[in-house]
Amino acid sequence: MQMTSSKFLVVMLCQLIVLPFLFCLAEGQGLKVGFYDKTCPNAEAIVKETMDRVMAVAPSLGAPLLRLHFHDCFVRGCEGSVLLNSTRNNQAEKDAFPNLSLRGFQVIDRAKLAVEKACPGVVSCADIVALAARDATVALKGPYWQVETGRRDGRVSMIDEALVNLPSSLDNITTLLQRWHQKGLSRKDLVVLSGGHTIGTSHCNAFTNRLYNFTGKGDTDPSLDSNYIVKLQEKCKADDQTTLVEMDPGSFKTFDKHYYTLVSKRRGLFQSDSALLDDPNTRTYVNHQVHHLKSNFFEDFGVSMVRMGRVQVLTGNAGEIRKVCSMVN
Ligand code: HEM
Ligand SMILES: *[C@@H]1O[C@H](CO)[C@@H](O)[C@H](O)[C@H]1NC(C)=O
Ligand SMILES: *[C@@H]1O[C@H](CO)[C@@H](O)[C@H](O)[C@H]1NC(C)=O
Ligand SMILES: *[C@@H]1O[C@H](CO)[C@@H](O)[C@H](O)[C@H]1NC(C)=O
Ligand SMILES: *[C@@H]1O[C@H](CO)[C@@H](O)[C@H](O)[C@H]1NC(C)=O
Repeated sequence: MQMTSSKFLVVMLCQLIVLPFLFCLAEGQGLKVGFYDKTCPNAEAIVKETMDRVMAVAPSLGAPLLRLHFHDCFVRGCEGSVLLNSTRNNQAEKDAFPNLSLRGFQVIDRAKLAVEKACPGVVSCADIVALAARDATVALKGPYWQVETGRRDGRVSMIDEALVNLPSSLDNITTLLQRWHQKGLSRKDLVVLSGGHTIGTSHCNAFTNRLYNFTGKGDTDPSLDSNYIVKLQEKCKADDQTTLVEMDPGSFKTFDKHYYTLVSKRRGLFQSDSALLDDPNTRTYVNHQVHHLKSNFFEDFGVSMVRMGRVQVLTGNAGEIRKVCSMVN
C-alpha cells in the first residue's frame, strides 16, 4: 500500500509539475528491446538455443517457464526473486504454497551458465526468465513478442510476500482486478494474461472445492458446467493433492485461444478463470475470442506480457547481476 501510494504521488508530481526528466521514472523506465546489443550481443540467441534444446526433449517445461515469469513479476516485481533459494535465516518465495509445481529452475540455471560463459556478469537472471517465457510460448506455437531487457536482480525473496501477492485459484473478479490494478496492470491485461492457461496442467487441489462440498452443503459450484464436474470428479477425489489435470484438455501442449472457448462454456478450471465471465468487459473479450476467427489474442498477449514484464523492475544501478540465479552475490 505504502509503495503504491508513494509511486502514485511521483506520477502525479510528474504530470503536474514539469520535473527534470530523470525524476519521472515511470514503470519500466530503463528497459529497452536489445539492451544487451553492445554488452552481450548473443545473449538472446544463447537463451533461445538453451530453450530450443530443452523444449525438444521436455516440452512440458514450457508452461512452467511461462508461469515462472508471472510469479516473478507479481512478487516484488520482475527481479528474479522467485529464483532465490531459502537460506538458513530466510524462507524464500519458492517455499510458499502457490509455488506448488513451479518448475523449470534448472532450465534458467542452464541458460544462465551458457550466457555467463559468453559474457560474465552482464545478463540478469530476471531477463533470462523474461526471455525464456517468450521462447517457451513460441516453442508451443504461441505468439512472438520483442522482450524488453535491462532488468537487474533483486537481493530479497520472502515467503510472506508470495502469499500476499500471488492470486489464488479461488479469487473472485473483484479481487483479481484489484491485484492487477496494484501492479499497474489493466482489466484487459487480466483477461489476456489469463489466456496463459491455454497451456499446462494443474493439481486437483486448486479446484476440488468446486467439485465437492462447495458451500458446505455437499454441493458443487453452480458456475461450473455440470457435465464437466462429473468428468473432473472422475479424475480428482476430494482430497487429491497429486494428480495433474490438463487445463485446456486436448490442446494443453499448444498455445492457442481455445482457453476462451472453455471459459465461455463454463469449463474454466479455476474459479479465477470462471470469474472472467463476471465482469462485462472481460466477458466481452472472452466471447470475442470465441466468435471471431481472426482474433487478436496473440497480438494482445505479447503486448500484455511486455506490460507485465515492466512491473516494479530494478534498472540502472539498482540491484545486481547475480552470478548464480538461486543465490545473491
Ligand atoms: C489470474 C490469476 C491466476 C491464477 C489464480 C492462477 C493460478 C494457477 C494455478 C492454481 C495453477 C496450477 C498450479 C498447479 O497446481 O500445478 C496455474 C498454472 C499455470 N498458470 Fe496460472 N494463474 C493465474 C494467472 C496466470 C498468468 C497471468 C499466467 C501467465 C501469463 C499463468 C500461467 C500459468 C501456466 C502456464 C500454468 C501451467 C503450469 C504447469 O503446467 O506447470 N497463470 N495457475
Ligand atoms: C537451490 O536449490 C536447488 C534445488 O533445491 C538446487 O539444485 C541448487 O543447487 C540450489 N542453489 C544453490 C546456489 O545452492
Ligand atoms: C514449495 O514449497 C514447499 C513448502 O510449502 C517446499 O516443500 C517445496 O520444496 C517448494 N518447491 C520448490 C520448487 O521450491
Ligand atoms: C470477493 O472476494 C473478497 C475476498 O475474499 C470478498 O471480500 C468479497 O466480498 C468478494 N466479492 C464478491 C463480489 O463476491
Ligand atoms: C461438507 O462441509 C460441511 C461444513 O464444513 C461439513 O460439516 C461436512 O461434513 C462436509 N461434508 C463432506 C462430505 O465432507
